Amino acid sequence: MRAASTIFSLAGSVAVDASLSTGCTALSAIDNAVFYQDSAVYGYEAKHFWSNTELMSPACVFRPQSSTQLADGIKALVDVDAQFAVRGGGHMGIRGSNNIDNGVLIVMSNLTTLSVSEDKSTVSIGPGHTWGDVYAHLEPYGLTAAGGRLGPVGVPGLLLAGGINFYGNQVGFGCDTVKNYEVVLANGSIVNANKTSHPDLFWALKGGSSNFGIVTRFDLEAIKSTKVWAGTHTVSAQYVDRFLEAAATYASNIYDEKTHVVPALVPGDELLASVILFYDSEDESYPEIFKPFTDIPAISSTLDFKTVSEFATETGQMVVPGI
Ligand SMILES: *[C@@H]1O[C@H](CO)[C@@H](O)[C@H](O)[C@H]1NC(C)=O
Ligand SMILES: *[C@@H]1O[C@H](CO)[C@@H](O)[C@H](O)[C@H]1NC(C)=O
Ligand SMILES: *[C@@H]1O[C@H](CO)[C@@H](O)[C@H](O)[C@H]1NC(C)=O
Repeated sequence: MRAASTIFSLAGSVAVDASLSTGCTALSAIDNAVFYQDSAVYGYEAKHFWSNTELMSPACVFRPQSSTQLADGIKALVDVDAQFAVRGGGHMGIRGSNNIDNGVLIVMSNLTTLSVSEDKSTVSIGPGHTWGDVYAHLEPYGLTAAGGRLGPVGVPGLLLAGGINFYGNQVGFGCDTVKNYEVVLANGSIVNANKTSHPDLFWALKGGSSNFGIVTRFDLEAIKSTKVWAGTHTVSAQYVDRFLEAAATYASNIYDEKTHVVPALVPGDELLASVILFYDSEDESYPEIFKPFTDIPAISSTLDFKTVSEFATETGQMVVPGI
């Protein structure tokens, strides 16, 4: 602690140091939502990140129970010019993007709305969820959404940054399917941003990333889906040239919009080439457009009919937590 404050004063940042501790004090009027280092909640929340590069030392954790409580907190933090970081799903690995040393860590863990509209056209999702949660909830309705391709990816980070998804050739980025955002603004107002209400903010939130406010609910177009044909097709080193040619052929003429591919060369003792193939069909397998890949003999393949929820669980196992 002493070393850190010495470094701060040498850098001439004494003022910053003072403002950091005031953030937690400013929140003290908020009941049961601010947690310090000696609490179990802090112990859990300060470590709840996908990547270990994010492990830092926030002065306190603010875990709002509602958008109203978050709005009260934001107003208090802005009033004292405090520093804070916000964590949604916690999947981003860039240090400091969703955690902070000494300032306030705001976590979305308890903003967990998850519901389907009566006409089944819209799914409303709180920022505390991962896509694995969302797909599992939608599966019994025969629905899915244009979200992350790996179950452990968080909802808000993906949607605010754009959102590459399995349905991209049909619907665009994940953010293109958002109909409405409930947002806490810097002045503590809670607004809906959509085509007719705060349309400039609605535009900015579609890929503009995280500095326009804190989104407390995403209303997304639901996508009808029972099963899809999907999996990973892996080939040995001798076929790498053919594999790369298949990737180039697909990319130069994506004539079937039900498709999505993720080709990769996998280094190791022996080089492998592996492609994630996704086809939005419950009854058609091995579509023509994938032939350049699937005609290469596989050393392993998980291609089969499955739900998006099952598939995101499968792909999620490819990313190691806590790295
Ligand atoms: C808040 O989130 C934490 C972590 O997921 C959970 O253990 C706790 O039960 C939640 N509290 C409420 C009131 O939802
Ligand atoms: C907060 O800012 C929004 C957007 O500029 C504005 O519409 C709203 O009236 C402001 N609220 C308060 C309480 O000042
Ligand atoms: C847009 O926001 C307005 C104002 O809050 C709300 O009445 C309307 O239902 C919203 N539209 C959508 C599509 O959510």
